[in-house]
Amino acid sequence: MIDRINRLASEIEAIKAGSLEEVEHLRLKYLSKKGLVSALFDDFKGVAPEMKREVGQLLNDLKNKTHQKIDELKSGFEAVGGASAVTLDLTRPANNAQPGSRHPLSIVRNQIIDIFARIGFTVADGPEIEDDWHNFSALNFTADHPARDMQDTFFIATNPDILLRTHTSSVQIRTMEATKPPIRMIFPGRVFRNEAISARAHCIFHQVEGLYIDKHVSFADLKQTLMYFAKEMFGENTKIRLRPSYFPFTEPSGEMDVSCLICGGEGCNICKYTGWVEILGCGMVDPNALDNCGIDSQIYTGFAFGMGIERITMLKYQIKDLRLFYENDVRFLRQFAGAF
Ligand code: PHE
Repeated sequence: MIDRINRLASEIEAIKAGSLEEVEHLRLKYLSKKGLVSALFDDFKGVAPEMKREVGQLLNDLKNKTHQKIDELKSGFEAVGGASAVTLDLTRPANNAQPGSRHPLSIVRNQIIDIFARIGFTVADGPEIEDDWHNFSALNFTADHPARDMQDTFFIATNPDILLRTHTSSVQIRTMEATKPPIRMIFPGRVFRNEAISARAHCIFHQVEGLYIDKHVSFADLKQTLMYFAKEMFGENTKIRLRPSYFPFTEPSGEMDVSCLICGGEGCNICKYTGWVEILGCGMVDPNALDNCGIDSQIYTGFAFGMGIERITMLKYQIKDLRLFYENDVRFLRQFAGAF
């Protein structure tokens, strides 16, 4: 009897299986009611009483080891999803994963958000479909103001009050209506204008606008903030220049140029041989715009600025045609793989 137990034990020790079905077959062969291990238990009844202790011990060990072995074989197959061990070739090259990459406009938008986050600006979003009040009237564009012409957009024929926003200044209005100063926020988003599509203009583009309102905010704060931004975005040696301009919702208003990052100010075809490239509009928030939103212009002042993400991206990566951003040509997009 002891011999039979030992022989069966070494047989079981050596078993191998090529598939889950085979494991099940082996389990039945050894452990089912009529299996070989169970048969030994039946014979145990005939063992002499003085041998029962030793043989019983061996039998129990055999049974436990068999269970263990079957479990081991089984879990080996479960780990590889039930596939046959023979067909699993660990030396084969893995499936070729093709991770996507961020769109260049998203990369630059994220950089702009990061730069302003470091000096305490948070991010807010608003609707792309706007009403006249938030896009124009509250910003001091009176009904027949000629500045509306410069931001012609897409209106709903049946309701001229509803339009696609022409700038994210509409989100500045929504924020001022809903929040008490101090306000220090930027507003990235998609905007729309009725423009003929060309290498430099599109009917859809992206902006980041910024707003800072508190007591005693001055033009010096505006200039310092924009200088910080320009150096972070384009490099430590970047210079800025502010030129007077006009927006209905800022007074005074300006446009900001940065020294040309291609020629460093010497003059080249990117800066049209002026040494400067325009990147944004800005100014001190007009008191009317503050009062329109329930912010007391006697107590608070603020500055605002707005830039086109396409323009910054084109400068940074020297992209000559703005239409490339919207064509989804992977040969263009793949060049930005790995950037965040
Ligand atoms: N909203 C202006 C535009 O889209 C940009 C701007 C924002 C100018 C804030 C001044 C202040 O053209």
